[in-house]
Amino acid sequence: MTRIALYPGSFDPPTRGHSDLVTRSLALADQVIVAVARNSAKQPLFTLEERMEMLRAVCGDDPRVRYESFDGLLVDFARREGATLIVRGLRAVSDFEYEFQMAMMNRHLMADLETVFLVPPEDATWLSSSLVREVARHGGDVTGLVHPAVAEALRRKFGR
Ligand code: PNS
Repeated sequence: MTRIALYPGSFDPPTRGHSDLVTRSLALADQVIVAVARNSAKQPLFTLEERMEMLRAVCGDDPRVRYESFDGLLVDFARREGATLIVRGLRAVSDFEYEFQMAMMNRHLMADLETVFLVPPEDATWLSSSLVREVARHGGDVTGLVHPAVAEALRRKFGR
């Protein structure tokens, strides 16, 4: 049986932490679907198409990784795709409450969909898309925090 994992998120933009998690997820599943939320509650900086394009550039071409977008509930998308695992990154204690609530709600909605948390590399535990956006917005250096293609997309987005 093919084990399919979903790695859902906003990826606005993808960081080094995200690409690391995609690689780690492959140890748990035969196929990983990087699932980009179309209508996240947040107002994204990048369009869905831009985020998908950046993810492909950042995570590279691996036949075991697919990039998809989804609308509505994650559990409905998981059912359509036959996924049995949700993978999320857990960076710090501050992530825990939100992640725990989401995991429990998803379990309530779909009992046989398991959430697993993976820890990013130590030097990326403080890294977040929102901080990257903020630094880039004010012209700060995001080298090393994001893939060069993402750094370039941020420069273009902020007209630098
Ligand atoms: O990267 P993010 O913004 O923390 O990702 C959050 C995301 C997109 C995974 C989450 O908001 C989500 O799953 N949205 C889909 C709607 C849904 O299923 N909500 C109920 C789960 S609590």
